[in-house]
Amino acid sequence: MFIAVEGGDGAGKSTQITQLQAWLESQGKKVTLCREPGSTELGEHVRELLLFAKNVGICRMSELLLFMTARAQLVKEIIRPALNRGEIVLADRFLLSSIVYQGYGGELNIEEIRQVGLIATGGTLPDLNIILDVPLSAAKRRRKKTPDRLESEADAFHERVRNGFLKEAETFPEKNFVISAVQSIDEVQNEIRKKLFPLLT
Ligand code: TYD
Repeated sequence: MFIAVEGGDGAGKSTQITQLQAWLESQGKKVTLCREPGSTELGEHVRELLLFAKNVGICRMSELLLFMTARAQLVKEIIRPALNRGEIVLADRFLLSSIVYQGYGGELNIEEIRQVGLIATGGTLPDLNIILDVPLSAAKRRRKKTPDRLESEADAFHERVRNGFLKEAETFPEKNFVISAVQSIDEVQNEIRKKLFPLLT
C-alpha cells in the first residue's frame, strides 16, 4: 500500500508521519518512509536546488520538472521496490503537492501536471493521500523560522494551495482523505488510524 501525507506548510506532517510509522509497525507492517523532494541522492541534490539555492533563476515550469525529476528517481529507486516487497510506503508529499503548489499555487495547467506526473511515476501513485488541512493563520504560526523558497511565497499563493488541496479532495474523494489539523496531535493521529485500519490486510 502506498500512502502520501500531504498538506500546506506548517500542518504538522512530520509529527503525524513519525507516529503513523510507529503505529503501522506495531500492527506488524513493514514501512518504507520517503520524503519529497529527496530520499535519493539525486533527489537530495534537487531539494537543495529547489528549496535553498540563492540567486538561481527557476521559473515555474523548471520548478515543476525538477520536482518531477526527483519523483521519477524516488519511484524507481525506492517506492516501486518497496511495494514489490509488499511493504507500506509512507511518503511525505507526492504528486498531489505538485498539482497543488505548482498548479493551483503557481498557476501552471493542472491537467498538464497530471500528465507529466503520470509519465514521471509510470503510474505508481498513492492509494490514498492524507491531507492535513490548516487555515493559513494557524499554519504561519507553526512554520519553521527560516522559510524555504516556496514557504516564502505570498499569502495569496498559500491560500490557493490550501483551496487546491480541498478542491482536489472534493473532486477525487476516493483517493483523498482530509483531516482538520487544527485539532490536537493525538486527535489527528486517531483519525488517520481509524481511516487506515480497515485498509490494512
Ligand atoms: P517539505 O520538505 O515537505 O516542507 P515542509 O516540511 O515545510 O512541508 O516540502 C518542501 C516544500 O516544497 C514545500 O513548501 C512544498 C513544496 N513542494 C512543491 O511545491 N511541489 C512538490 O511537488 C513538492 C513535493 C513539494
